[in-house]
Amino acid sequence: PLTAVTSDQGTLTVGDCDVVDLVKQFGSPLYIVDEHTVRVACQQYRQAFEQFYPGESQVLYASKAWNCLAICALVASEGLGIDVVSGGELYTALQAGVDSAKLYLHGNNKSQDELKLAIANHCTIIADNWLELDLLVELVQELAPEHSPRVMFRMTPGIECHTHEYIRTGHLDSKFGFDPGQFSDLLTFAQKHSEINWVGLHAHIGSQIFELQPHQDLTSVIVSWLEQAHQAGLPMQELNVGGGLGIRYVESDDPPSILTWSQVVCEGIAKACQAKQLPYPKLLCEPGRSLIGSACLTAYTVGSQKTVPGVRTYLSVDGGMSDNPRPITYQSLYSPVIANRMTEAASETVTIAGKHCESGDILLKDAALPPSQPGDILVILGTGAYNYSMASNYNRLPRPAAVLVQAGEANLIVQRETFQDLIRHDCLPSRLQPV
Ligand code: LLP
Repeated sequence: PLTAVTSDQGTLTVGDCDVVDLVKQFGSPLYIVDEHTVRVACQQYRQAFEQFYPGESQVLYASKAWNCLAICALVASEGLGIDVVSGGELYTALQAGVDSAKLYLHGNNKSQDELKLAIANHCTIIADNWLELDLLVELVQELAPEHSPRVMFRMTPGIECHTHEYIRTGHLDSKFGFDPGQFSDLLTFAQKHSEINWVGLHAHIGSQIFELQPHQDLTSVIVSWLEQAHQAGLPMQELNVGGGLGIRYVESDDPPSILTWSQVVCEGIAKACQAKQLPYPKLLCEPGRSLIGSACLTAYTVGSQKTVPGVRTYLSVDGGMSDNPRPITYQSLYSPVIANRMTEAASETVTIAGKHCESGDILLKDAALPPSQPGDILVILGTGAYNYSMASNYNRLPRPAAVLVQAGEANLIVQRETFQDLIRHDCLPSRLQPV
């Protein structure tokens, strides 16, 4: 419902491209990303931060949601910076031409090589733990970089919110970041190490969050840490409040808008700074899902059907948990349509099954759909976030292609993997080679 329109022929179109035609041209399954929807979301965040925050701001894209050359270049063209969590994501963003001054490296176990890559490219590093701080000090000594690396502290804010246990990060029992009880020790460490440019503080409370209160609570917590830093003679000038805004996957989901979320965050930080008479820090946020999630759909081809009398009908498609691991991992819900039957009434209840050798490989239980035939194009909406980026080759399924659509034009942004790609890194020791 978010990016898609029904054509006069009763077929689904995205970015003025007919989904059925796209599958004919690019194959199945296919990720289809609507450029306009991504641009609008980027603009909504940027404009809201400009409108509601009296200081400087920078919106980052949490590229773990979908990191590839085209998506990095697309969000960067809208003025966003990029949050990366590994050498691979960092390398991809650099190769996409993203300005390294707008790159922020996260991670709770960064390797030496990852830190070196970030230092060499003048990316900001979000330090997560003591080992990393010691490593950073050593690396600065060893590499003697021209500019001191820009480093932020990642704090665990201890804020509870109602989302799936696996994607909650802000509560105290989290593998990420420093515990609030360690904050004064952190400041002492920073005071001792002026070879590092301690630019600010970061916190992230979780993902797919619909409540505004936890985000509001975070603003006062993070500003009180900023005040402590200033009092300790460390005039940090950047605050990053993370991401986490949820999106509507099914009709009953009711997330706040990007505008409302941004207003709460911006006004919360501004008010807390005013109350403490602190200068406005540069305010950063790093949404992932809400920038890309609704902008993509996955088109599959319907295959076999099986009815277990009195129980359910399984409708199998040509992908599954390898291109969308979210249902099996988090019991996530999605909304389906049949691209070539958009005007037909949903008169059947079916369970959409993937093609993997795994009973749990069910994309969607009890979906209301029009009666379908093998060869129909079944679409799952809202698959932009954490689908391609979490995809695997389980059962040696080649990963699908992805296209970017806009004004009737479709461009490949990720090629479909081939069987050759699947064995590209396999090695056959000589004693196992066929004689
Ligand atoms: N910043 C940090 C430090 C994060 O850990 C995350 C997400 C984000 C920003 C972006 O959060 P978002 O705006 O996308 O909610 N694979 C899970 C989600 C994992 C989220 C990990 N961190 C899923 O498919 O729901």
